[in-house]
Amino acid sequence: MTSTAGEPDRAPVDVSRETWNAQESDTPIGAEAERAVRLMHAASEGLLPKPSRQRIFTVANQKGGVGKTTTAVNIAAALALQGARTLVIDLDPQGNASTALGIEHRPGTPSSYEVLIGEIPVEAALQQSPHNELLFCVPATIDLAGAEIELVSMVAREGRLRTALAELKQHDFDYVFIDCPPSLGLLTINALVAAPEVLIPIQCEYYALEGVGQLLRNIEMVKAHLNPELNVTTVVLTMYDGRTKLADQVAMDVRAHFGDKVLRTVIPRSVKVSEAPGYGMTIIDYDPGSRGAMSYLDASRELAQRGAPEQAR
Ligand SMILES: Nc1ncnc2c1ncn2[C@@H]1O[C@H](COP(=O)(O)OP(=O)(O)O)[C@@H](O)[C@H]1O
Ligand SMILES: [Mg+2]
Repeated sequence: MTSTAGEPDRAPVDVSRETWNAQESDTPIGAEAERAVRLMHAASEGLLPKPSRQRIFTVANQKGGVGKTTTAVNIAAALALQGARTLVIDLDPQGNASTALGIEHRPGTPSSYEVLIGEIPVEAALQQSPHNELLFCVPATIDLAGAEIELVSMVAREGRLRTALAELKQHDFDYVFIDCPPSLGLLTINALVAAPEVLIPIQCEYYALEGVGQLLRNIEMVKAHLNPELNVTTVVLTMYDGRTKLADQVAMDVRAHFGDKVLRTVIPRSVKVSEAPGYGMTIIDYDPGSRGAMSYLDASRELAQRGAPEQAR
């Protein structure tokens, strides 16, 4: 498939060198084929260092539509492709992460809701991805929509997910990503209490940093009172459009604000990335030769390298 209007051939300035090299092939089709081959071989390259202990990320930003779900599922799929056992916990009643991973989440399916309220162990809700045997998901069903209110009257309401996930230590997941709803309510608080790391996706658009201050204050509050281990370790710039000056400005602002927490890899805006969930697939499976797939692969490697034990870097 050739580039579409949604995928300009011009590489964004911050896109990693690997992505850039792939652009240098003679033709767009040639470049795409090269990328696809590189991605298919990613698993056998053995470049991905394993974390010394399970890494749990909360993917949060109370703004909707900034790329939380897309980033969670695609980084997870890219890590799984490279041999890491990876779990995505869908904590958004919309169930978009479940959909994107091709995971059953009809009402009645054992889900994050029952796990959260302590009705079932997390193991009982685990489903394996149809595309990768190392990739798993705890789906969200519409039942989760009521949880925000139900939780209010529950004992230890902020720590329920943490308690439920304690048993995950017995599973050998290398990575766990918790996909949050677009709010700072009790579901997101539960995710922040359950994870040591926060990954914030930021869309390269107007008002990108709007609301991030509020998110950071909430994170500080959770850290002070409920989860001293909590830190924002990773910021991902999403939906970058190299044709606009605005995108560069936003990227610069975000880097000035978050420094080296921001991954060097920037996720380009790409029609393919937005099409993939419609087929119950991540971009990694839907179109491995696309720039979107390559950028998520690069992002996953950066994330893995940053958390690797010193000697493996
Ligand atoms: N890199 C991208 N290029 C094009 N569309 C994207 C990209 N990332 C996300 N989208 C689309 O933008 C919308 C919002 O993304 P999503 O990940 O669902 O955000 P959130 O989970 O923060 O609400 C979705 O329709 C998604 O397919
Ligand atoms: Mg989402």
